[in-house]
Amino acid sequence: MVQVTPFLLVLSLALVAPGQASRKCVLTGKWINDLGSTMTIGAVNGEGNFNGFYHTAVTATNNKIQVSPLQGSQHRTNQKNHPTFGFTVNWTFSDSVTVFTGQCFVDENGKEVLKTMWLLRSHVDNITDDWKATRVGINVFTRLHSQKE
Ligand code: BTN
Repeated sequence: MVQVTPFLLVLSLALVAPGQASRKCVLTGKWINDLGSTMTIGAVNGEGNFNGFYHTAVTATNNKIQVSPLQGSQHRTNQKNHPTFGFTVNWTFSDSVTVFTGQCFVDENGKEVLKTMWLLRSHVDNITDDWKATRVGINVFTRLHSQKE
């Protein structure tokens, strides 16, 4: 009888721990990143494609920020729980385009997180300015309104 408690503890760890690690990360929904930018991703269709909207908190321009459309795709095969993805934001208030690529993870606390890298291409008037036209960075997104707790 005395050994029942440790047995139950080990059994519950064996059942719960893998469940956390394999919880599915879903792109659809509202996200906020480390800069305070927000985005809304719509449904991912059968081909892995999705649309959405991006509201950046910052800009490399002096223009007034406006919500801008995004188009992306999630990898289709073999990555059910933690899919890789990419999306493009076509900024409506500047001449620039940003491409993001990343992976949708579930962290050790069971929270979904998007780990991304991005390239921001700005327009330049002359080819001699090409060298300074592309910025690179990382952004980490978490869910704005938690869907499943
Ligand atoms: C521009 O300044 O021309 C358009 C806005 C760019 C915002 C960038 S995209 C990468 C980084 N992550 C964000 O959430 N915002 C900035």
